[in-house]
Amino acid sequence: MALEIKSLKQNELKRSVAEATLEHIEHKLNKDTVLGIGTGSTVNFFIESLIHVRHKFDCAVSSSKASTLLLEAGGIKVIDLNAAPEIALYVDGADEASLEKQLIKGGGGALTQEKIVAQASEEFVCMIDQSKLVTTLGAFPLPVEVIPAARSLVGRGLKELNATPIWRESFITDNNNLIIDAHDLVITDGKKLESIINDIPGVVCNGLFSLRPADTLLVSTVEGIDTY
Ligand code: 5RP
Repeated sequence: MALEIKSLKQNELKRSVAEATLEHIEHKLNKDTVLGIGTGSTVNFFIESLIHVRHKFDCAVSSSKASTLLLEAGGIKVIDLNAAPEIALYVDGADEASLEKQLIKGGGGALTQEKIVAQASEEFVCMIDQSKLVTTLGAFPLPVEVIPAARSLVGRGLKELNATPIWRESFITDNNNLIIDAHDLVITDGKKLESIINDIPGVVCNGLFSLRPADTLLVSTVEGIDTY
């Protein structure tokens, strides 16, 4: 019961930060704007609101099959990243964020597309509820997308970095790969760790967003929205 109330409260905070994010970006939209759209339950709330202003921008580039379905169901045109001239804004949630706006993402397994679209965007606006704001990243297990044949090799590589790797069994990414969640990391140098993990053969991408952090972070608290 207590857990149910907690998750209801968290959903309210997710919805309020999603609505605040739309307010934050709405004045930047014009008929040529291509919007990058992330993945997850906070993004789902954002899409719900975005549908009401679909006439104010051109189209979206999506980071997952799930978000594409929701966008198209709401009448928003979705184009392929390769066909997009310029993405003005990327909007996404996160699993953890630091005040430096470095993130852990990939709880929903869409980290690779999310990182690609974030990198391709001029501005990255991240929206979280207060439970995800941390001083040191790593309490949330770091998702790593892995080519199936390299699962054991990557697991051993992560152990050498003092992580406890746990294979997310029965989960296949949109790219037909696997996810290993790296538990027990204390991330003091996110940029270095992001590169080191990317260098393990078989790793497609990891969920650290340190090299390309968010530009703006909106955090919903019970008192209101904080913007960093
Ligand atoms: C998906 C993600 C999500 O942004 C992250 O998991 C947060 O999700 P939610 O908004 O449902 O809490 O990185 O790959």
